[in-house]
Amino acid sequence: MKIVSSSSIDTIQVAKRLSRYLRKGDCVVLEGPLGSGKTVFAKGIASGMGFDPDQVTSSSFVLMQQYKTKRMDIYHLDFYRIKSMIDLHGIGYEEVFSSKGLTIVEWPDIIEGFLSEDHIVVKIKTISPTKRSIDIDSKNKRIKKILTRLAK
Ligand SMILES: Nc1ncnc2c1ncn2[C@@H]1O[C@H](COP(=O)(O)OP(=O)(O)OP(=O)(O)O)[C@@H](O)[C@H]1O
Ligand SMILES: [Mg+2]
Repeated sequence: MKIVSSSSIDTIQVAKRLSRYLRKGDCVVLEGPLGSGKTVFAKGIASGMGFDPDQVTSSSFVLMQQYKTKRMDIYHLDFYRIKSMIDLHGIGYEEVFSSKGLTIVEWPDIIEGFLSEDHIVVKIKTISPTKRSIDIDSKNKRIKKILTRLAK
């Protein structure tokens, strides 16, 4: 599914709509350059699950944040500062991915080899200061169905 977002509110709305269909164990990977709106998208998912979006911050200084929602726990990971897998030692990310929560990852490159085929990829491109193209895709059949529905 590909859409053009004209504001951060638009991006939040798209993420909120997607959030309704997400299940425990799902993983959303956010790709896009600095300031493209990855954290805004994460805010949308969290607020869609009833979490206060103001508490979802750009987590580049914190590797992992956990948001407790009624529907499921959300683990928001940001690997921007991570240069090697060794830096990840001790944060317990393996447990996070095998957990029952939802995982959201910004700057996923370092853990690419570790991700399952089923994850949801959100590619954000900056078109102008306020316009973004957002491309959401997955190899997972269930997610593909969801995306077809969302695109309508
Ligand atoms: N259409 C849009 N969608 C999302 N964000 C937008 C849009 N238009 C403008 N913005 C602004 O772009 C910025 C996106 O910031 P955000 O922290 O989400 O980026 P990021 O991709 O997480 O960056 P980083 O790589 O530093 O973590 C915000 O200031 C937001 O208000
Ligand atoms: Mg961010």
